[in-house]
Amino acid sequence: MNDIYEMMSTLRAVRKLRPDPIPDDVIEQVLQAAAWAPTGGNMQPWRVIVVRSEERKQALADVYRPAWYRYAKGYDARIEQLPEDEAEKARRNRVAGDFLADHLQEAPIILMFVADPKMMAITDAKLDRVSMVGGGSVYTAVQNAMLAARTEGLGCVLTTLHCLAEEEVKAALDIPEGWATLAMVPLGYPIGSGHGPISRQPASVLAFDDAFGMAWN
Ligand SMILES: Cc1cc2nc3c(=O)[nH]c(=O)nc-3n(C[C@H](O)[C@H](O)[C@H](O)COP(=O)(O)O)c2cc1C
Repeated sequence: MNDIYEMMSTLRAVRKLRPDPIPDDVIEQVLQAAAWAPTGGNMQPWRVIVVRSEERKQALADVYRPAWYRYAKGYDARIEQLPEDEAEKARRNRVAGDFLADHLQEAPIILMFVADPKMMAITDAKLDRVSMVGGGSVYTAVQNAMLAARTEGLGCVLTTLHCLAEEEVKAALDIPEGWATLAMVPLGYPIGSGHGPISRQPASVLAFDDAFGMAWN
């Protein structure tokens, strides 16, 4: 059943991917889904690079691997603070994360979403806090692509750790000056069960009734 709610509620992070090729028509579906996404002023300030060559995938893996292991050190410390059932899941994620970091170059495709901030009206750019609105004109496309990938039976995971060495990524993919990298999404058929049940806080926690902090339900 490809019901949209079924797809959303089983779109979990899949980090173990087979190297088998993805048919061109499937890739087209994923890219078309991304292109349907809404963006501020309909400017579509993003582009996606479908990285397929061995050299460029390897270059991305060379950036991602050390970034992951640096991040994972902090992650390990946090795992030990968790209750045992959550710690167990976090340890499995750590292992899957290591697998991705060690095998990223083997994914048949790596999508790199980039954007030009000059094409965005970033309404919170001048506020005295971290600006977040701009990402909204890119992550809609990323999520659409991931939902399409999941619908096509592909595994995928949104990653961002490559940003720790963005200049190297830009050099490897010929990304012009002024453009930013927002998401790197490896795509491939899953090793093992792939997408499946997710654990998320319920809407009753995340939603408020009429004003911040007012319980919903
Ligand atoms: C903005 C963002 C950045 C993320 N960056 C990474 C990343 O760099 N590496 C990674 O393995 N997962 C990354 N993830 C995946 C999340 O860790 C994952 O979606 C979350 O833990 C929920 O996991 P689940 O979907 O398996 O339940 C990122 C997700 C988001 C939304």
